[in-house]
Amino acid sequence: MPDAPTLAVVVVAAGSGLRLGRGEPKAFVELAGSTLLEHALRAVYAQPESSHVVVVAPESHRGVALDIARRVAGIAGEHLRVVVGGHSRAASVAAGLAAVPDEVDVVLIHDAARALTPPEVFSRVVQRVRADGVGVIPALAVVDTIARRDAAGVVIDQVDRSSLAAIQTPQGFPAAAYRAAMAAVTPGAEHTDDAGIFVAAGHTVVTVEGDERGFKITTPWDLRRAQLLIDSDRSALRTGIGIDVHAYDDSRALWLGGLYWPDEPGLAGHSDGDAISHAICDALLSAAGLGDIGSRFGVDDPRYAEARGDIFLTSTLALLHDAGFEVVNVAVQVVAQHPRFAPRRHEVEALLSRLLGAPVSVAATTSDGLGFTGRGEGVSAVATALLRSQRS
Ligand code: CTP
Ligand code: MG
Repeated sequence: MPDAPTLAVVVVAAGSGLRLGRGEPKAFVELAGSTLLEHALRAVYAQPESSHVVVVAPESHRGVALDIARRVAGIAGEHLRVVVGGHSRAASVAAGLAAVPDEVDVVLIHDAARALTPPEVFSRVVQRVRADGVGVIPALAVVDTIARRDAAGVVIDQVDRSSLAAIQTPQGFPAAAYRAAMAAVTPGAEHTDDAGIFVAAGHTVVTVEGDERGFKITTPWDLRRAQLLIDSDRSALRTGIGIDVHAYDDSRALWLGGLYWPDEPGLAGHSDGDAISHAICDALLSAAGLGDIGSRFGVDDPRYAEARGDIFLTSTLALLHDAGFEVVNVAVQVVAQHPRFAPRRHEVEALLSRLLGAPVSVAATTSDGLGFTGRGEGVSAVATALLRSQRS
């Protein structure tokens, strides 16, 4: 079994959402067919480091929260807990922290209400906490001019914007130091957020870049803005499909999925016959509407004679970037009698994901003795790709 995670994310979702005014707790209000809690948890589970996740829910929604969290967590659900929150956000954070296992060394505290915070922000915060052992908060520069005014609305002065930052979540801390800081809080003292407690205990807190999408959904207007963002994101998505087949050729070395497979018969072809890489290229090009591998990297072109799969993949990626696309994810299904994929599947996935800068999953099957793959004549690979256009 892999080691237990040393990162924990506490997601506070126990507020009542009075300002949103939907008559149900805000984290359970729907946005584009999913609850805010579900959106927030998707980002938590999409960041690369595995983590303990503690969801802090209202008493009335404990069961619903557990169902939602289990659904999003999937197989990562073994490190999931749902606890009941308190009457203030601070009380809910305390309840969440109490459920964080002792072996955790970095803890993140996140508002479910910041439902569209992208996974990268989580990674940025975790990395900085680990690198410098400090408290870390995501922040955005303040763009509006800020004025101080009195109770009657009369302006007293303007505040120098250059030293101001708007603070978001997740806020990250070394776990032991944060626990100690919480324990030292004077009852009744006002801290508007988690970092305030850490600073009050004499620790350093630094900012990293936040993200516009990490805004807190507070009012009906915010919910509308979130809906519009999701709509525009969806209309920017494109799917593609690609297929490639190569016959076995005993006289060649086997290169498949960008990897060298010693002691296996190779594949015939003008290039190295890497059916997985070629199917992925076709899927990417088809999603972008940029043709296919044959028309882009012709068999007559000497640059691609004997070329490895990674050359095609990185060249395809460059074409995509020029056309304003980024890869969201790629899925591949290989059909072949051999090589046996299971022992090296993670290696193939890791290599391809690194080359494309996006998750690539690879599944493999035999075809029950049927067809050319079943007779052991060759390898077939089918790939699908999802891209996002940055220009729509
Ligand atoms: N929160 C919580 N427990 C509370 C209050 C707030 O867990 N007693 C959580 C909310 O669920 C939210 C985050 O803290 O994810 C930020 O709080 P806020 O945006 O103020 O949410 P609500 O308190 O639910 O909204 P409102 O203040 O409008 O009632
Ligand atoms: Mg509130």
